[in-house]
Amino acid sequence: MESKEKFAPPAEFAAQAHVPSFADYERLYAAALADPDKFWAERAGDLHWFQRWTQVCDWSNAPFAKWFVGGKTNLSYNCLDRHLPTARRNKAAIVWEGENYEQRTLTYQELYRKVCKFANALKGLGLKSGDRAIIYMPMVPEAAVAMLACARLGVTHSVVFGGFSAEALKTRIQDLEACLVITADAGLRRGKEVLLKPAVDESLADCPTVKNVIVYKRLGTLTQMKSGRDHWWDDLTTGISEECPAEPLDSEHPLYVLYTSGTTGKPKGVVHTTGGYLTYVLATMKWVFDLKEEDTYWCTADIGWVTGHSYVVYGPLAAGATTFMYEGAPDWPKWDRFWRLIEKYRISVFYTSPTAIRAFIRQGDDFPNGHDLSSLRLLGSVGEPINPTAWKWYHTTIGKERCPIVDTWWQTETGGILISPLPGATPTKPGSATRPLPGIVAEVVDDKGEPVKIGKGFLVLSRPWPSMLRTIYGNPERFKAGYWSRFPGKYFTGDAATIDEDGYIWCLGRVDDVINVAGHRLSTMEVESSLVRHKSVAEAAVVGAPHEMKGEAIYCFVALKTGVNGSDALVDELRDWVAHEIGALAKPEKINFVAALPKTRSGKIMRRLLREIVTTKSVAGDTSTLEDYGVILKLSQEGKEEEEILGEKK
Ligand code: WT7
Repeated sequence: MESKEKFAPPAEFAAQAHVPSFADYERLYAAALADPDKFWAERAGDLHWFQRWTQVCDWSNAPFAKWFVGGKTNLSYNCLDRHLPTARRNKAAIVWEGENYEQRTLTYQELYRKVCKFANALKGLGLKSGDRAIIYMPMVPEAAVAMLACARLGVTHSVVFGGFSAEALKTRIQDLEACLVITADAGLRRGKEVLLKPAVDESLADCPTVKNVIVYKRLGTLTQMKSGRDHWWDDLTTGISEECPAEPLDSEHPLYVLYTSGTTGKPKGVVHTTGGYLTYVLATMKWVFDLKEEDTYWCTADIGWVTGHSYVVYGPLAAGATTFMYEGAPDWPKWDRFWRLIEKYRISVFYTSPTAIRAFIRQGDDFPNGHDLSSLRLLGSVGEPINPTAWKWYHTTIGKERCPIVDTWWQTETGGILISPLPGATPTKPGSATRPLPGIVAEVVDDKGEPVKIGKGFLVLSRPWPSMLRTIYGNPERFKAGYWSRFPGKYFTGDAATIDEDGYIWCLGRVDDVINVAGHRLSTMEVESSLVRHKSVAEAAVVGAPHEMKGEAIYCFVALKTGVNGSDALVDELRDWVAHEIGALAKPEKINFVAALPKTRSGKIMRRLLREIVTTKSVAGDTSTLEDYGVILKLSQEGKEEEEILGEKK
């Protein structure tokens, strides 16, 4: 994995950068370390506060943090109203292209009016600060409008990725006790309509808390509307006032809950709040993306993921930037769609995932080479480790060796980028996210929590930071146990990492039962629970196996009920079953039928062993005799270690 090569920031880039040298980075880092309160207060000073805070960080009730205590602010105000008295009022806030080549541009004023109108519509339905709303939308500007309107009123939103199933949607609505769902008739993906409203209808059969559904008409797909519950977006926002004052919200008001996979079958609702989150995403927009007034910035993430929250909507708009949104697939109608978009809209900062990059490499260089990519000045990567080969291709074929690459490490829980090069300051090494950002104390520690100077260990964060998750929705115990118990006083990321002689961090991936498929997090237990709900399945174990394109792929070991015979047809049926229950991204790569699952004496499934089998031995062909691998023999030797490794979560 490690590469000795080092790439200095191009001199031309450094000369114009917000942070123009490594010495400047180190100065910022030292300042934040020496006096964090002063440092973060200065960053928060870039924002509008209806009322100033009295305390920067209250860590007295750790691990439950409060930032900018007593302060009152509003995300929507900071993303919109704050820009209106400036030249940005008629600047493009969102530039959008549909998969079918439709184009829309919303200036800051236009976006402001849309958000106000929609917020008034929400008020009309009786929504108020403290309520929870689900957003289940395709990648259209209205998704951002819905988020900003909720934020304007203090309605906590939870965006559910449009690719998730009705079942996944239902779990989230129920956990959140949401009273409203905002959705669309359908979205477009590879030329096909992806229906959203029918999934909402299906999930609402078991969600009594939901009183209203708002449906945005994206395609005009025939849609059944339930009278009294369902409303068309356009009907609600026609003839309504274009002014809606932003609520002065407490700095710790919950802005959103975003569900992510943990080590159990039940997704956890990561809670992010207002003032600290906003302060941090704005600061990182400048540090990491070196954002300038002239940039046209494109982050390819869907709004269903945290990247879409922080770096498609809130970060860029708080910075007054032009954020580009694309509705569809990268290979539609051909594999050059992204490069075509970069050329057409003169994108200058481009942020995508290693999975996408690997897929592009496979399609050959003719696609990017057929387009003018000279508008690009900075490239970013997020979601999983980027292998040096992919990094170099990105650097050469897309960046023409001119654009720095920022490999950004962070998590749904961290709210913003924590470890990343600063493009004008930090020399990069392909495959390393380099150094923590100012204000972030990231350490690699051994089993006992002692810092490793050079070498491998667990990645932890030793100080609170403004955009950290505050809790798990409705489950503070899970928050404490899941993140703060393994290494007392420190936040455990769940990642293993190496730290090298330059203090550079190389993230190695998860050490828990979480897998990262194409940059999207899934819990092995979630897939297992889905499999055992199938009538033919007795037991299931799921592990991640390295995959050339997706980073990791889902491998399932399934023991069938007595009397049921494994067949290719059953493999297909089970794969479709999981895809239907969770969403297409959870569709297993491979299903192996086994007579029994290997377990420890305490009955815990030996996932580590199964991982080893799928990583080092070929599982192609018939593996129904898994025990022949000497499973039983190995069990007694490895059982102990497995218990130790996973000991923190019994
Ligand atoms: C996990 C978090 C942050 C938005 C997307 C994923 C892995 C993330 C990197 C990177 C190596 C990375 C980690 C992390 N990860 N970025 N630059 N290099 N690994 O968010 O679903 O919360 O997943 O993704 O394993 O813990 P997420």
